[in-house]
Amino acid sequence: MVPTKGVFTTRQMAEIARRHLPRAIFDFVEGGAGSEIALARNRARFEEIALLPQALRDCSAATSVVTIFGRRYAAPFGVAPMGFADLIRPGTDRALARAARERNIPYVLSTAATTSIETIRDIAQDNLWFQLYPGSDEATAAALIDRALKAGVTTLVVTVDIPVPAKRVRDLANGLAIPLRPSLRTILDVGRHPAWLMRALFGTRLGMANFIDNRGAMSGLKHAEFVSRQLSCPALDWSRIEGIRKAWPHHLVIKGILNPEDARTAARLGANGIVVSNHGGRQLDAAPAPIEVLPAIREACGDALTIILDSGVRTGDDIARSLARGADFVLMGRPFLFAVAALGLSDGPKAIIDILRDEFMNTLIHLGCPDPAELDDSFLWPRRTGAGILSPRQEGNR
Ligand SMILES: Cc1cc2nc3c(=O)[nH]c(=O)nc-3n(C[C@H](O)[C@H](O)[C@H](O)COP(=O)(O)O)c2cc1C
Repeated sequence: MVPTKGVFTTRQMAEIARRHLPRAIFDFVEGGAGSEIALARNRARFEEIALLPQALRDCSAATSVVTIFGRRYAAPFGVAPMGFADLIRPGTDRALARAARERNIPYVLSTAATTSIETIRDIAQDNLWFQLYPGSDEATAAALIDRALKAGVTTLVVTVDIPVPAKRVRDLANGLAIPLRPSLRTILDVGRHPAWLMRALFGTRLGMANFIDNRGAMSGLKHAEFVSRQLSCPALDWSRIEGIRKAWPHHLVIKGILNPEDARTAARLGANGIVVSNHGGRQLDAAPAPIEVLPAIREACGDALTIILDSGVRTGDDIARSLARGADFVLMGRPFLFAVAALGLSDGPKAIIDILRDEFMNTLIHLGCPDPAELDDSFLWPRRTGAGILSPRQEGNR
């Protein structure tokens, strides 16, 4: 067990991160789109879900181990793809990848990471998944797919929920948008965080490592143009997914699905999995919380897809809630970055994984459920039928 210096929850990690990071960086990670309604909704919907224990079931051999995409992982959660993670501290991508390998959970490297696929592959080995923004330039996407294949990646996560850049008010107010025009308040505040500033000044320079070609040039595109053209693309349609399916011989996961019809389409086009996600409330502020649409999605696609959920998962209870409502696995984003900010590169990532895994085991055993694969709607109160929720009164009348 890693020393956690009196920190026991993801919430505490976030509170410490708030103090350690310049406000603009904390806001960039924590903030959501628009009025941050989706962000709040993600948490609120989790908290409404009660889990119903089954008494006197032998859990002496309970396990958190799960198998997805033909591989066993120590727990049903992994690290979501996050661009510019090294803004927290230089080395964040590497530290998270190392802990994911050591603790045996997946680490999903973002297209917009500032560390290259090859560097992370050497650290995470087959715990590495790669996330692709297909973007507007098919040749750039094809080159990334090729690079991921050559690096030995076997799970490709294609993110489809940023047709346009989001309106993130905190970033606008802090001047943390492209092109970068930090406000005076942001500059003064960075000065109040000398430890962060020194690391940023003397650490590795951040660049789009997965777009740097062999000669070290950035594919001829200027940074701002690149971000808007290659990461978001309003013209994206299902034909691109068909193309990627043909080009990618291994597991293919579509990230950013909320609509049951889209889940069906993903299955029909040969995807192996989906991530039911609203991008952590960072894109469409009016989007539903993934946890609320999850049962309808499971009903729509049955066992045809591996269903992964993210957005708002913060505790072992939340992981169990997600599995009971139909997910096979979850991803988490912000908690991993806050763990690095709170406890550092070496302890933070391992500590957060241990905390979440222990919480999840504790929940499983309280529920009388010895195996995550057995978590289903019989552990929900009120029990749901299909996509709907029965009230306790209706449930009693059944
Ligand atoms: C700082 C930050 C950067 C992100 N960058 C990406 C990205 O590059 N690609 C992507 O598919 N999702 C990205 N996401 C979304 C996450 O993958 C994930 O969907 C979301 O964080 C889950 O919500 P949670 O943070 O509440 O756990 C990012 C999220 C954050 C917080």
